[in-house]
Amino acid sequence: MNFLGIDLGTSSVKIVIMNENGQVVASNSKEYDVHYPKVGFAEQDPEDWWNAVKEGLKEIVCKADSQYRAIDGIGLSGQMHGLVLLDEDYNVLRPAILWCDQRTQEECDYLNNEVGRDKLSLYTGNKALTGFTAPKLLWVKKHEPHIFSKIAHILLPKDYINFKLTGKIATDVSDASGTLMFDVKNRVWSQEMLKLIQIKEEFLPKVYESSEIIGEISKEVADYTDISTKAVVAAGAGDQAAGAVGTGTVKAGTISVVMGTSGVVFASSDDYSVDEENRLHSFCHANGKWHQMGVMLSAASCLKWWVENVNKDLKESPFEKLLYEAGESKIGAGGLIFLPYLMGERTPHSDPDAKGTIIGLNITHKRGDITRAILEGVCFGLKDSLEILKSIKVPINEVRLSGGGAKSPLWRQILADIFNVKVQIINSEEGPAYGAAILAATACGLYKTVDEACYKLIKVTETTEPIKENIEKYEKVYDIYKDLYSVLKDSFKRLNGVL
Ligand code: XUL
Repeated sequence: MNFLGIDLGTSSVKIVIMNENGQVVASNSKEYDVHYPKVGFAEQDPEDWWNAVKEGLKEIVCKADSQYRAIDGIGLSGQMHGLVLLDEDYNVLRPAILWCDQRTQEECDYLNNEVGRDKLSLYTGNKALTGFTAPKLLWVKKHEPHIFSKIAHILLPKDYINFKLTGKIATDVSDASGTLMFDVKNRVWSQEMLKLIQIKEEFLPKVYESSEIIGEISKEVADYTDISTKAVVAAGAGDQAAGAVGTGTVKAGTISVVMGTSGVVFASSDDYSVDEENRLHSFCHANGKWHQMGVMLSAASCLKWWVENVNKDLKESPFEKLLYEAGESKIGAGGLIFLPYLMGERTPHSDPDAKGTIIGLNITHKRGDITRAILEGVCFGLKDSLEILKSIKVPINEVRLSGGGAKSPLWRQILADIFNVKVQIINSEEGPAYGAAILAATACGLYKTVDEACYKLIKVTETTEPIKENIEKYEKVYDIYKDLYSVLKDSFKRLNGVL
């Protein structure tokens, strides 16, 4: 048996073929653009996603060894929260508004302050955040009423691909959790919330558990990609839940940390629970249970920005060169602290106006100190979420690290030292795409449960232990880091539109 895992990311789609032993036997990826029509806006054309997926599928099946071409199941993972709107003839009504789009502060203020955070939390387990889907719907209602009046179907990004593959309008519990229209505790659409924002349930997709089958691929897709029409499609999961499956983060005590474009601290939990202040997202997990997570909007992308925007003159191996220099700098980056708010921040500040900042510069600092401060600042940002998890007594025994940042041994050591917990790397580097393939394999009956698949397939390959003397030094720096946002908050706001 063979399974396809598809991860519809923000900058590209990644596709893997997993065989019945859980080995990834082929992979590819196709890129597409993000459009920023205004500061704070981020959009993509769902047709660009579909073209990339279609071509990626055709190519991977064509190039795979013959024994891996017969596909039994397909699983999707995708960037969460994006708003995809279709009319009654299933045409896309406007570009998708993405998870990192910040245009909905006014709608969030209305929901959190006038409707009330307590009510939202009671109905959905969450408060309104600019990236979530329901505030985006309210924005479209106010600013584009001609589009709003034509809405017949509301989908999340990966669900648009599931629709193109199968013709079914469906979603899964983990992705639905990020809409602020879902009753996370009971795993159904929230009638109270739908009434409150005046959305008819018939506009929303049917909800499945992540490893349930939603349908088979259409003949048209089968003809184009050479995948058998017998291949079933699982409901799939939001990228964080799928990524957690892909790293085996399915039991209490194991934490998944992702250092990708966004940064995520994700704790699996057997029961539904909500942090009283709604600092963390409380969502359904892809294994039939729940999870809580904190999300920072810029993580490994901070290093990418530093390399590609600021140090773009470095032609040869720029990442390696800058990371080498960072390794030459000392713990605490010689007294420099970087605040990683390049796109505003979600957890813990929920502030689209927050800005990236370097504090503590003096005449002796070199580029390596700044690079090191960036690596450390991202880990301090992640620690903010870890501290919230600790404060609500979530057990933390080990961290499984994935995403682009996981590739750097230096960054792994900094994370282990700042978190004061061992950081593990696992045998698969494919993250959410691998998790999505596991969901497909479970849907096809190869495993009884998602947890069983994870226990069988996922193995720790490397562990980075925290170093005692570093832990203490970083605690002192974190103490200062923690205070900086509140000191600078008003200045960040005042910087908007100054020039
Ligand atoms: C999760 C989130 C991001 C996106 C993009 O809440 O917003 O992880 O899913 O990866």
